[in-house]
Amino acid sequence: MKEYLNKLRKDYSMMALNEADVDKNPIVQFENWMIDAVNAEVNEPNAMVLSTADKNGHPHSRIVLLRNIQAHGFIFYTNYESSKGVELAQQPMISINFFWADIERQVRIEGKTEKLHLLESSEYYKSRPRENQLSAWASPQSKVIGSRTELEQLWKEAEKKWKNEVEVERPPFWGGYSVKPHMFEFWQGRPGRLHDRIRYRLENEVWVIERLAP
Ligand SMILES: Cc1cc2nc3c(=O)[nH]c(=O)nc-3n(C[C@H](O)[C@H](O)[C@H](O)COP(=O)(O)O)c2cc1C
Repeated sequence: MKEYLNKLRKDYSMMALNEADVDKNPIVQFENWMIDAVNAEVNEPNAMVLSTADKNGHPHSRIVLLRNIQAHGFIFYTNYESSKGVELAQQPMISINFFWADIERQVRIEGKTEKLHLLESSEYYKSRPRENQLSAWASPQSKVIGSRTELEQLWKEAEKKWKNEVEVERPPFWGGYSVKPHMFEFWQGRPGRLHDRIRYRLENEVWVIERLAP
């Protein structure tokens, strides 16, 4: 395996990232890069690694989907009673990572999460396909379950419960979080491992832009 892994060596040469080219506002810069990722047909460009910490300081990472970017933050949706939901209730500071291999880019974001307003969560929930809405009711996310059959049974029970209703209500334990960022890092792969890294950090509510060594 070591020989195999050591042979994997990619040089990055597609693009550069200069201080003069980046937007002063990191959210605009992020949106520009997201548009590039979509245009490049990167697979699931809105998939991001979300890292949380539990009360013992142990980090936990998993993918979630970015669903909106608003003035007050980056929005994702999940089960509030999941492991990540419990961790976020205890420790709202998170980090997010996007890796868009096809365009040799990584974005790191750090910030603080807050639960979204109930009405915003309900509005998004309404836009989801009915079967996904039912899955939110059926799945006790992060809990141990006996089998696949048990999960499918829970889904069928949810389907039965809502079969006479035109709309499936949002479960009270399911909704969104908004991440208010205080740090962004935009990474562009460059030849010979001399990558470009541009960091934005908030100082007295002003974004300070700095280059970091690769
Ligand atoms: C591509 C992809 C997208 C995902 N999107 C979400 C999402 O938007 N929300 C969510 O709760 N879980 C999502 N998941 C599942 C999570 O990675 C994770 O398994 C789940 O949220 C439970 O995490 P937890 O036990 O740490 O709370 C996604 C997984 C993948 C691979």
